[in-house]
Amino acid sequence: MRTIVIDNFAEWRALARKLILDAVRPDEIQFADNNGQQTLFGQTINANDLDGASKSDSNTTTADQAKPLRVPREFLSLAETVGYHRSESRWNILYRTLWRIVNQTPQLLKITTDDDVLRLAKMEKEVRRDAHKMKAFVRFRKIIRDDEEYFIAWHRPDHNIVRKVAPFFSRRFKAMNWTILTPNESVVWDQQKLVYGDGVPRSEAPTGDELEDLWKTYYAHIFNPARIKIKMMKSEMPVRHWATLPETEIIADLLADAPRRVEKMIREHEGFAQTALNVIENRTELLQSLEELKQIAANCTACDLHTHATQTVFGEGPVDAKIVFVGEQPGDREDIEGHPFIGPAGQILNEAFAAAGIKRESVYVTNIVKHFKFTTSETGEPSTSGPAPRGKRRLYQRPNAREIRCCRPWFDAEWSFLTNANLLVCLGATAAKAIISPNFRITTSRGTIVESDYCPQTIATWHPSAILRTPDSTQRQTKMNQLISDLSLAKAKSDTSTSRLV
Ligand code: URA
Repeated sequence: MRTIVIDNFAEWRALARKLILDAVRPDEIQFADNNGQQTLFGQTINANDLDGASKSDSNTTTADQAKPLRVPREFLSLAETVGYHRSESRWNILYRTLWRIVNQTPQLLKITTDDDVLRLAKMEKEVRRDAHKMKAFVRFRKIIRDDEEYFIAWHRPDHNIVRKVAPFFSRRFKAMNWTILTPNESVVWDQQKLVYGDGVPRSEAPTGDELEDLWKTYYAHIFNPARIKIKMMKSEMPVRHWATLPETEIIADLLADAPRRVEKMIREHEGFAQTALNVIENRTELLQSLEELKQIAANCTACDLHTHATQTVFGEGPVDAKIVFVGEQPGDREDIEGHPFIGPAGQILNEAFAAAGIKRESVYVTNIVKHFKFTTSETGEPSTSGPAPRGKRRLYQRPNAREIRCCRPWFDAEWSFLTNANLLVCLGATAAKAIISPNFRITTSRGTIVESDYCPQTIATWHPSAILRTPDSTQRQTKMNQLISDLSLAKAKSDTSTSRLV
């Protein structure tokens, strides 16, 4: 039996392809993680050496390697996620499953009672849940060094998910310098790129203050290479020579850009320092269920919206819901009664649910912002202090980027409990921009299933209020039909998803 040492999913994928084309049976091969240990089984081959090894004992030709190998996309996405699982057996199970799909049962993934399929689905779910926990609960600590701000966090994930989750943090906290330390691997973001380094041994798991010392001792030196380079270059070579050196081209831009970046950091920092995460973090002892999360959220004061809204309107629906709907913010009725989508927009949504064959009581419905934002002023001044004056009409206002950022940790935490969800529906542009991409446009991209940071199957559609606000009845009906058709697609996809995705 040959043992092949694997570093990561990309490597496994390339190798598995080669081995399948070589007709190597699963019982002829054994995969092991590259953790520096020698395995006990027969001959050990490093993945990088496999080219030679496989060619010498098989008849693989260049033509073979160019052969198309048809693998369901669903398997690849499953395999990529499972690749982050800590169990060493994952590569073997994946290879056996791939071999069976290619040689025996193309529809294997649909057989949800199959042992391998079941184990992979379980691993996938564990990784996704772990990734969502990391996104929701990583807590940064601010450090000032040389007048610059750095944010560091210590987290202990259950699986090897740092590389899965780091891109999410780099998008979310783009204009910050941050480091996340974990036992297996650490990652640094210097506002330009992610740099991965060794982990911090569990035995050294730092507490609050020690975290700062640990970071200063071990990690600060790989921080912000651009800044270090400038300092180094200033000391190594006179500034007047910079202009003639090609590698110094970016320096002027970097320096010129500094004030804008500092200003941006300050702005970002406001939202960063005080968000719902602070509220959640102070109460982690209570965080065992969605119900407890809801209770904590009831007292959220992370942004100013709580000062004038009647109450926090939290999501509702079964914790094992397969489809999750996320809107923008509660409206007037929702604010008064404390339930999402029960006003006029909720009526439209209910009609669309009925037409699409979705039972409202089987799905989870929530909002990206949990407090109602409105104005009572003719001039549209936001109401940010105290309840609305009696008798005044409360006019809806769109939440701004900071309010959305402040509130989002509630959705992150909700989502981490909704572990059976395999389809996420964004109702309207605010939710779609927060969940799919800031550039998302409902008018051009609604109705298509895309992958988001939250869910591999995410779809955006019209917000029911946008339908209500459409004055022309024909256009209104068109939008309603589109909403129904998007929800029908969401339901069909959710019903036929073999793997349960968190
Ligand atoms: N609009 C929303 O986005 N959510 C609600 O709960 C009600 C109206």
